[in-house]
Amino acid sequence: MSNDTSGDARTPLTRGELRDAGLPDGVEIAMIWAQTTDGVIGDGTDMPWYLPEDLEHFKNSTVGAPVVMGRISWEALDPRFRPLPGRDNVVITRNPSFDAPGGTVSASIPEAVAAAYRIAAGEDAAGVPTVWILGGGEIYRQCLPVADRVVVTEIACGAPDRFTVVAPDMRATLQDGSFTVSDGPWLESAKGSALTGEDPLRYRICEYTASTSPEEKS
Ligand SMILES: NC(=O)c1ccc[n+]([C@@H]2O[C@H](COP(=O)([O-])OP(=O)(O)OC[C@H]3O[C@@H](n4cnc5c(N)ncnc54)[C@H](OP(=O)(O)O)[C@@H]3O)[C@@H](O)[C@H]2O)c1
Repeated sequence: MSNDTSGDARTPLTRGELRDAGLPDGVEIAMIWAQTTDGVIGDGTDMPWYLPEDLEHFKNSTVGAPVVMGRISWEALDPRFRPLPGRDNVVITRNPSFDAPGGTVSASIPEAVAAAYRIAAGEDAAGVPTVWILGGGEIYRQCLPVADRVVVTEIACGAPDRFTVVAPDMRATLQDGSFTVSDGPWLESAKGSALTGEDPLRYRICEYTASTSPEEKS
């Protein structure tokens, strides 16, 4: 599985574009995902594992904050948890007639991030420290240059061939110095399972921090 993004026609974002859309300086942009060791995150509708500990971690990390996701990830959510409860959900699509019941639709990533901030700030006078980017692959790749923090659950499993959606290669960002990492310990899931049969299913949570502060980003 390759993390090559050269075939992705979308252009990477700049912090200036977020500022121009109305996002104040000082708001953290954080991304979160779970991936196989090879970087696989899905097949367009589903993930190749079931890991309750990661679902709990995802919920604990993002509840109370505004979240932004691509249209395909929105549609991949279990309808029982769409919009994701306890979070202001913003969906990015180029389709002007797309409806996301319970969420807010935006036509571009900067507009979506700024809208997520504005909606949450309107509800909480104490301010919004973080806007979470929830994927999927297309959105993660475009947002990587403006991300201050990336939280990755690495799952020691494979994936059937149809799972072709991949995350950005965060290990490459360590090579080029754009991020540093704190790797959590490998843990064994109590009830988790993978389509490729690994048992017990092992996972670890890795937190990447951008080497450049938000203020220094262009
Ligand atoms: N493992 C994990 O943690 C995790 C997390 C999130 C998602 N996923 C998985 O990832 C898969 C989805 O990822 P994906 O890469 O296929 O799709 P995606 O990133 O979720 O959504 C792509 C869509 O977002 C819209 N979009 C993208 N860039 C845009 C831009 N610059 N301006 C306006 N709209 C833009 C377009 O929607 P329109 O086509 O409507 O214009 C595009 O088709 C699913 O399988 C999901 O389950 C896994």
